[in-house]
Amino acid sequence: MSLSFIRKFTYLLLFVTLSLNIYIFTYPSLNPKQCSWHSKASYKSDTNIISTYLNDLYNVFFTTEDPIAAEDFTTHEDSIRMLAFGDPQIKGNWPSTPMLKRLDTYGNDHYLGHIYRVMQNRLNPSHVAVLGDLFSSQWIGDSEFFNRTRRYISRLYNLPEEQQAPLLNYMKENERVDWASHAHELKSKDLKDWDDWGFEEVYDWTTENFAKRLSKVPLLLNVSGNHDIGYSGDATWQHMTRYHKLFGKDNFWIEYNKGTPSAFRIVVLNTLLLEGPALQPEFLDYTWEFLYKLFEQRFDGSTILLTHVPFYKEEGLCVDGPFHDYYNEKNVRSEHYKVGKLRAQNHLNEEVSMRVLNLIFDKADKYPGVILTGHDHEGCETWYNLNETDFSWTASKTKSRDAPSVKEITVRAMMGEYGGNTGLLTGDFNKSRGQWDFTFTLCPFAIQHVWWVTKIVSIITVFLTSAVVVFDL
Ligand SMILES: *[C@@H]1O[C@H](CO)[C@@H](O)[C@H](O)[C@H]1NC(C)=O
Ligand SMILES: *[C@@H]1O[C@H](CO)[C@@H](O)[C@H](O)[C@H]1NC(C)=O
Repeated sequence: MSLSFIRKFTYLLLFVTLSLNIYIFTYPSLNPKQCSWHSKASYKSDTNIISTYLNDLYNVFFTTEDPIAAEDFTTHEDSIRMLAFGDPQIKGNWPSTPMLKRLDTYGNDHYLGHIYRVMQNRLNPSHVAVLGDLFSSQWIGDSEFFNRTRRYISRLYNLPEEQQAPLLNYMKENERVDWASHAHELKSKDLKDWDDWGFEEVYDWTTENFAKRLSKVPLLLNVSGNHDIGYSGDATWQHMTRYHKLFGKDNFWIEYNKGTPSAFRIVVLNTLLLEGPALQPEFLDYTWEFLYKLFEQRFDGSTILLTHVPFYKEEGLCVDGPFHDYYNEKNVRSEHYKVGKLRAQNHLNEEVSMRVLNLIFDKADKYPGVILTGHDHEGCETWYNLNETDFSWTASKTKSRDAPSVKEITVRAMMGEYGGNTGLLTGDFNKSRGQWDFTFTLCPFAIQHVWWVTKIVSIITVFLTSAVVVFDL
């Protein structure tokens, strides 16, 4: 008996569906070197892609030889495992948004969430950093900001319920943020008391004293971008307040292993509020005050700096060259009070870059450091080499042989158009040298259409298969 055409077609579709689904759930195994922690040495780089892929699948599913994968991160004695995501930039819907566009936005959330879940399951990170531009626009109202926050904490980063609950409650109880009282509260204090910027030994934001990691949920570190709080010519108290309430401090540090050889700290810095002219100049004072406080810690250890805007570099080193733009009568539309204020920037300016590098990496001669940024979408790696006579730092493609240097990694965007990337920062403490080694790799997925096609083909296959079975076609 020959098979009916429809039956043959269904078999074909079943095969395609299965392959696509296997692909989207195991894509890191096609690229195991870039999609694994650096120290997971078991990756012999096979020249044959099929055997590389199968070998990696076997490792992921059947071996537990990697001690890191089993670790519950109650200490960071000799390992740091950080996932870094650049610019997810989730979009929103307006009453006039057409149905298809809404579906696209919905799918995009799940596409980003899929990447996060696959990488989290595979790698069991200790930290997850989102390097700014969580959302796509700073010109949205509180209601839309809340709506995107809800999507961010559920569809994208899938936070445990107890972590979501206080945020959901806040958004339920407040139709909009009460920025006036937040501003009043902070402004009535001395600048140095605006915030408690420093933490120690944080493993889980939800446990008492943050001291213990209760589940496999990694520590989420949000970094603010120009679309979240805004460029300094845009940022208002309303922007600042809602970010503080829902995403936490825009500047803070966490120290680990203080006083031991493997001491290190994570610094989250809002680089958008370092330069003016600013709409609210007090924000600049607040950010600089943070940097002075950080410097005064005289911390003996390595630093991982997480921020949105990259440091100054000449044209040609990365895709983005130096660029600053200011509001004028032409581009300001109706908001005339913004004229002259900072409207956009690609980098920190040269002078601010030097000051910030000297305040944060003042001990780079002894302790290696690393910088992760976002903003330019394309991705780039740059060395900042210190001139020890005048304390200037020069951006370069190569590391200086004899002067202290810090590597800046601009992480390629997570957005579908850029291929759904995940950055992996591995920190390994080298006991013999008494120093941290940092390694960064980028693990790409595929444009969002691949994910979409997989979902659509899967749905069609389910229908067709049921029809074939039920009606015996
Ligand atoms: C946010 O979501 C709620 C509930 O779905 C909706 O009523 C509201 O209009 C949304 N806000 C905006 C600005 O679209
Ligand atoms: C980052 O944002 C999430 C979601 O809003 C929140 O649960 C988490 O506590 C924030 N992290 C920090 C350090 O505030």
